[in-house]
Amino acid sequence: MKTLMKRSSLAVPSPLGSPLEPGTLVWVKDKDGGQVWVKAEVLSIDGSNVQVRTDDGEVFMLTSADKILRCNEDTWKSKEGLTGVNDLSSLTHLHEPEVLQALHLRFDVDQIYTFCGPILIALNPFKDIPGLYASVNDKKFQDLSKPPPHIYAVASRAFHGLSNAKQSQVVLISGESGAGKTETTKHVLKFLTSQLSENKSKEKGKTSQVGKTPSVHSGTEKKVLSSNPILEAFGNACTVRNNNSSRFGKFIELRFQAAGGHGPSFSNAAIETYLLEKVRVTKIDKQERSYHIFYQACAAAANLDPQDLEGLPMDYFRSAQDFRYLVQSDRFELDGVDDAEEFQIMRKSMEAMDIPPQEQADIFRITAAVLHIGNLTIVEKVAGKFEVDQNNPSFKAVSEIMGIQPAALARALTHKLIAVGSERYDSPLEREQCEARRESFARMIYSYLFNHMVYRINESLSSGRTGSTTSKLSFIGVLDIFGFEHFKVNSFEQLCINFANERLQQMFNHFVFEVEMELYKQEGITCDFSDFPDNQGIIDLIQAKSMSVFTLLDEECRMPKVVIDGRENFTLTAIEPRFGFTFLREWGTNGTEHCRTLHITSPSGNDVHFECRAWGSSEPQLELTGHIEMGGEFGTYTVTSGQATWVVDRWDYWSKSPPQVYLIAFVPIGMAMCAFGGILLWIGFCCHCCTGSFTKE
Ligand SMILES: Nc1ncnc2c1ncn2[C@@H]1O[C@H](COP(=O)(O)OP(=O)(O)OP(=O)(O)O)[C@@H](O)[C@H]1O
Ligand SMILES: [Mg+2]
Repeated sequence: MKTLMKRSSLAVPSPLGSPLEPGTLVWVKDKDGGQVWVKAEVLSIDGSNVQVRTDDGEVFMLTSADKILRCNEDTWKSKEGLTGVNDLSSLTHLHEPEVLQALHLRFDVDQIYTFCGPILIALNPFKDIPGLYASVNDKKFQDLSKPPPHIYAVASRAFHGLSNAKQSQVVLISGESGAGKTETTKHVLKFLTSQLSENKSKEKGKTSQVGKTPSVHSGTEKKVLSSNPILEAFGNACTVRNNNSSRFGKFIELRFQAAGGHGPSFSNAAIETYLLEKVRVTKIDKQERSYHIFYQACAAAANLDPQDLEGLPMDYFRSAQDFRYLVQSDRFELDGVDDAEEFQIMRKSMEAMDIPPQEQADIFRITAAVLHIGNLTIVEKVAGKFEVDQNNPSFKAVSEIMGIQPAALARALTHKLIAVGSERYDSPLEREQCEARRESFARMIYSYLFNHMVYRINESLSSGRTGSTTSKLSFIGVLDIFGFEHFKVNSFEQLCINFANERLQQMFNHFVFEVEMELYKQEGITCDFSDFPDNQGIIDLIQAKSMSVFTLLDEECRMPKVVIDGRENFTLTAIEPRFGFTFLREWGTNGTEHCRTLHITSPSGNDVHFECRAWGSSEPQLELTGHIEMGGEFGTYTVTSGQATWVVDRWDYWSKSPPQVYLIAFVPIGMAMCAFGGILLWIGFCCHCCTGSFTKE
């Protein structure tokens, strides 16, 4: 994502301060690879050559090609000890090394939050910081003009913004996978729900006083927090970057109703989810896990007292090692996590969401069915004729749980339905096709199950609330997106996830530049913002309406199922000149019926390869599964058309009645410098004393 951002040639104000002279403190790149900024002192200047001595005593000569940035000479000492400034925009010189230095100094003293103008930057401490989240009602967070940098301060602004400005509010949390977005979302919700509860008790204790802050009528706010264990069990998994990685995006809305001059009153809540990574159900990498719920249920079946599980179909679960989908990885347990205990927490959460025991039993039955589908085996009893092994105990389990007659189940997995006019007939499938069908079946069932959980949560969050349509409600929304990731093999879903992050990046760019332009205007400073770092090109490459990766994939879905030998070479003229990507469509060349392949080759020579297969079935009519190849390996996905544009649709929807947006940018500590580049770009031009352009693209 970030590597495709254009390097800016934005005209910025000249650096403050007099020219360099002996004694000036500067930042220079280290001599071992030039990856790290080090502090140095200028010793002498000879034309464009500058001799410096680093803090470590190393002396070397820099030429005009080397970067030299000025140090802030003001000290970092504060009453609390050595710490950086609360707001980066108050730094005299604001550039990459100063930002890194400031955040580092703060991090060392457990100050993980720092403002940069309106944006809160957070570092993941990967440890509990005593007292950091204890004082949810502390008055300092109610100070809207100069609150301390903290997640509660952002939540408090949103909370008061709704009442004071009578405008919807949105908190956008962005960052790479493992940066801490989901934990932060919980803190935002904890703050907001505690404010609502406090108002509720105040309301009960008084009769005439009408508060300006939103009031509340029910315990729904507590349910919002209670829904977390369910969503995380069914939608989170362990990845190499994060033991509890969200594999879906969620947008939580706390909705308020305008109450006739009495300030908005809390009405209900809703959770919208999108882009669940379904491919994880059937394919996981070594060292990763599938969705937590599978391991929780297996652990519960093995370890919990049967009395605690009464009425649940735990006989369908076995050890996690007995399920093919789960043994693709050698990771079954997580440090410090007791899956059986988590199962009980999740069940309590189901009770809190009013999911009755009978329905819970059905949910776990379906969960087990997904695992058993993975154990189904395709056999070739007669040469060239493929069947499902009906002696496999998992076959019986799937048939029983799903209520499908064994013969019908076996046929559905090994035959396709072909419709010609009003006539329909079954045609047998090849082994590979049978296996692909089995995997699609498991993914589809799991995604229905996940959607059902979200539906039930929403039902519970909106229970008892009638008489108002969503459009009349203002809201405080919190967006917890899945983080940007780049694997060796990227599923289609990962492409969509990264695309959603790309859109968010664009949102950041625009937001920061708009705010900054306004500030410059107010102060009468002329500055050319016409060439700001813009990632529109990469967005067009993926999503442009005329021709892009998505339109081409959509076209693959719609194409008639005919086999055409040969290749068709074509170029995306709208895109190629910008990025140098080449597109090649290959039809029916790998010997598999109905197979089409789309190769997209990047300027660096990486081949992104989409392999699309289409076959007929009664439902859905046309399903597209395929592979995206990077470096020779395959991942499998099922296309869910339209979901990837969720973020775009939201912006369009919001643009009619725009909410106030708050941004929280995450910087995982220890992250690669190049990953930092994107964030620095936003920050760098956000201040009045920017000292130059950034080297990271
Ligand atoms: N404020 C915090 N205090 C202490 N630990 C934290 C904090 N935020 C995050 N962590 C730690 O980092 C881990 C990853 O955080 P989290 O799951 O919120 O990441 P994420 O950004 O949502 O990642 P993904 O995009 O993969 O879902 C947490 O499990 C927790 O151990
Ligand atoms: Mg997350």
